[in-house]
Amino acid sequence: MGGKTKKHLEVLREMRSRAVLGGGQKRIDQQHERGKLTARERLALLLDEGSFQEFGALATHDLNAFGLDKHRYPGDGIVTGFGKVNGRRVAVFAQDFTVLGGSFSEVQSQKISRIQDMALEAGIPVIGLNDSGGARIQEGVRSLAAYGEVFVRNVTASGVIPQISVILGPCAGGAVYSPALTDFIIMAGPSYMFLTGPDVIKAVTGEEVTAQELGGADVHTARSGVAHLAAETELEGLAMTKLLLSYLPQNNNEEPPQITPEDPVTRMDEALNDLIPDNENQPYDIRDAIEMIFDQDSFLEIQPDYAPNAVIGFARLDGYSVGIVANQPCYMSGALNIHASAKIARFIRLCDAFNVPIITFVDCPGFLPGTSQEYGGVIRHGAKIIYAYCEATVPKISIVTRKAMGGAYVAMGSRQMRNDVTFAWPTAHIAVMGPEAAVRVLFREEIGKAADPAAREAELIAEYREKFFNPYRAADVGQIDEVIEPCETRPRLARALEVLRTKVQQNPPKKHGLCPV
Ligand code: HXC
Repeated sequence: MGGKTKKHLEVLREMRSRAVLGGGQKRIDQQHERGKLTARERLALLLDEGSFQEFGALATHDLNAFGLDKHRYPGDGIVTGFGKVNGRRVAVFAQDFTVLGGSFSEVQSQKISRIQDMALEAGIPVIGLNDSGGARIQEGVRSLAAYGEVFVRNVTASGVIPQISVILGPCAGGAVYSPALTDFIIMAGPSYMFLTGPDVIKAVTGEEVTAQELGGADVHTARSGVAHLAAETELEGLAMTKLLLSYLPQNNNEEPPQITPEDPVTRMDEALNDLIPDNENQPYDIRDAIEMIFDQDSFLEIQPDYAPNAVIGFARLDGYSVGIVANQPCYMSGALNIHASAKIARFIRLCDAFNVPIITFVDCPGFLPGTSQEYGGVIRHGAKIIYAYCEATVPKISIVTRKAMGGAYVAMGSRQMRNDVTFAWPTAHIAVMGPEAAVRVLFREEIGKAADPAAREAELIAEYREKFFNPYRAADVGQIDEVIEPCETRPRLARALEVLRTKVQQNPPKKHGLCPV
């Protein structure tokens, strides 16, 4: 090797090793002291060993305002590129808090936009690891416009490639909107997300809150519904990200991958036949049914702590990915409310976008009555469920396990929502409303005139139950395809899905519908 080439190589190696250090060893130590990993350490945990190809490691800004010239670091506070997760290609970016607090700059935006564009063309998911103090203040409008560049790409890619945001530190101000435009937000470690921080809130309202109280994982997984999953540690959060990807296709033109099934589809769990309590008002946990029916240990619940009256998540059946939507009888009797409606509808649309068949378990007394729900727009939000089911063209199968009352039956379980197959367990009852309310509406006068009103009311309620509290009337009129033993659910679902695997259904061409958002 000539002396000149050697010199060139030395320069390159020097620059590369500087890039690896981000904002410098002192900042890396501070990051570790905060209990956080660096951008590169995170990527090493996320990606298959040796698979990372970095782009833009040497890119930096050429601005001088407010002392920026003293903060010129190769990479400019973000590591971007491509790699593999369990052998499947992904595009990644990881914000580097050691450089100006990971603050979002024009260069960061150019780097993210580049991998977003390439990922969309290649049809591969984008995973963003967020750890940033928001728009780089010194860059002014440049950093604001920079966010816009990323947002528009988030939207263009929506429904085409999966986009996952992992929040591993601060995610403040407008920075929250890129994650909010992606398909999943996973919060891990001491992370938080808010639009306006504690200082601003104190100045405007006088209220004192900490960053965690305002936008920690507990807030966003249980109260606001902004985040979909949370993990105690960064390691767990990154493992969760990999697991989530395994249920999704690379893009909307592909099917999710099938893993080699180890659990026979013919397996029938007899315990399912005893799951529904004799007393119709006694709760049970629908997750027990899900665990017994789908491939062993394959259920990944999404948003478990938000609107727990509805359960959503991914599972596998015969190794194939499926999306599960269920009412949860052990929380608010499984009644649907505003939050549950939004949770369910979004998940249906996500499954539909990414070719994941939807299996729905129905046990719902109806929509939750009350002024707070009506004033909050439960009509509009509830309509989202109907819209999402009707619009979805992926295979859809529903199983009525117990109550399917009124609007809840129509919205969640019915064939009219273009459900392909509708099963019911013998414990199912499908009616316009519960017996007490129905009898009061239909027979008020008759009961009032009766010699013993209470006895007559009880008699009419019993008659109503006899008529409607079974699945056979619905099966008679063709609304239920088959009444099955609960323990048969697994093989029956697997067979139905096998038939539906090649289902083709198309909606009429349009710019887009007007989903009641
Ligand atoms: C430039 C920033 C920065 C920012 C942090 N830093 N945020 N530099 N622009 N937005 C720098 C700090 O000055 C500091 O540098 C270093 O990063 C580490 O930050 P610390 O404050 O020491 O860290 P910590 O105590 O952990 O606090 C983190 C933080 C805080 C809570 C995120 O830094 C903070 O409040 N930052 C500002 C948040 C914010 O308001 N962002 C703008 C949002 S508005 P030195 O050299 O001193 O160590 C927005 C609009 C976008 O984003 C709209 C798009 C549509």
